[in-house]
Amino acid sequence: MIAVPHPIEARGLAKRYGDVVAVAGVDLTVRYGDVYGFLGPNGAGKTTTMRMLLGLIRPTAGATRLFGRDPLLEGARALDGVAGFVEAPRFYPYLSGRRNLELLADLDGGDARSRIDEALDVVELAPRAAHKVGGYSHGMRQRLGLAAALLRDPRLLILDEPATGLDPAGMRDMRALIRRLADGGITVLLSSHLLAEVDELCDRVAIVRSGHVVYEGALDDLRAAAGSSYRLTTTDDERAERVARAQPGVGGVSRDPDGVRFEAAGDEIVAALSVALVESGVGLLTLVPRTATLEDLFFALTEGPEAEAPVAPPAVEAGT
Ligand SMILES: Nc1ncnc2c1ncn2[C@@H]1O[C@H](COP(=O)(O)OP(=O)(O)OP(=O)(O)O)[C@@H](O)[C@H]1O
Ligand SMILES: [Mg+2]
Repeated sequence: MIAVPHPIEARGLAKRYGDVVAVAGVDLTVRYGDVYGFLGPNGAGKTTTMRMLLGLIRPTAGATRLFGRDPLLEGARALDGVAGFVEAPRFYPYLSGRRNLELLADLDGGDARSRIDEALDVVELAPRAAHKVGGYSHGMRQRLGLAAALLRDPRLLILDEPATGLDPAGMRDMRALIRRLADGGITVLLSSHLLAEVDELCDRVAIVRSGHVVYEGALDDLRAAAGSSYRLTTTDDERAERVARAQPGVGGVSRDPDGVRFEAAGDEIVAALSVALVESGVGLLTLVPRTATLEDLFFALTEGPEAEAPVAPPAVEAGT
């Protein structure tokens, strides 16, 4: 069987500006049909990585393949079937939305012009297409950016913060739009600094911090890896702590004024502990599961103590 190349494969991507390491060795694999979230706080290196993916800037180290092709070596040919925007999409403000798309379609060639009406329909801008872009709201510009990408009839969309700056309804509409495009068979890589947005849209994520990927994989696996902890209050917490420590399968036991905390992987272990407590003469008052929310995990990954410093020794060369 011949291996089909992934829509995106990046290995060891790094970018340094003087002594600032914007991206410090990022590996990414985006598979067919993924709606892949590239998640990280401001300054984490999302935009810089996306620029490298699209061949807009040259990596200091590492390489990218889009459907198996290197955008630095193959230029426009590597971008066949690939579209999107990095940072905010840009348009001529004194021209209409439609005229802007016409100019882009002419640059692109092919049958891009024949897709303009459909693209405007998909992003629900048809009624405003004759108006100048200068009068568009931020959300309308983002949608026009998506329409411009659709002119290329993409198999892969790379979208840098498509929903940032939109109001809640605009965000919801943008999510629904991206979901529809993905359901229609387009692979999507989108960046965001909002976990909730990525959680709603994406199957897989890479979480970046200071240019490093601190997690890559399914969000469900991240949730599962957090494990389950519990808090217990009883008629005798001191004795409860001793019983919990002696109970098979129970770990991470500690006691504080709020009760006894412990970790247990599975309902049977929790049930067995409750029986053991009662048999020891300890009365149960409350037993509360404390599953870490995805938000807790995200902040722990992106705001906790760092393993590596983001700033490198002075660079020999400052690349572009
Ligand atoms: N052209 C440049 N020259 C110097 N430093 C740069 C340049 N581009 C990016 N950086 C630095 O690289 C780091 C990553 O920036 P980048 O824009 O990729 O982050 P981001 O994750 O997209 O952030 P945001 O969420 O704010 O868009 C930042 O510290 C930034 O200042
Ligand atoms: Mg950015």
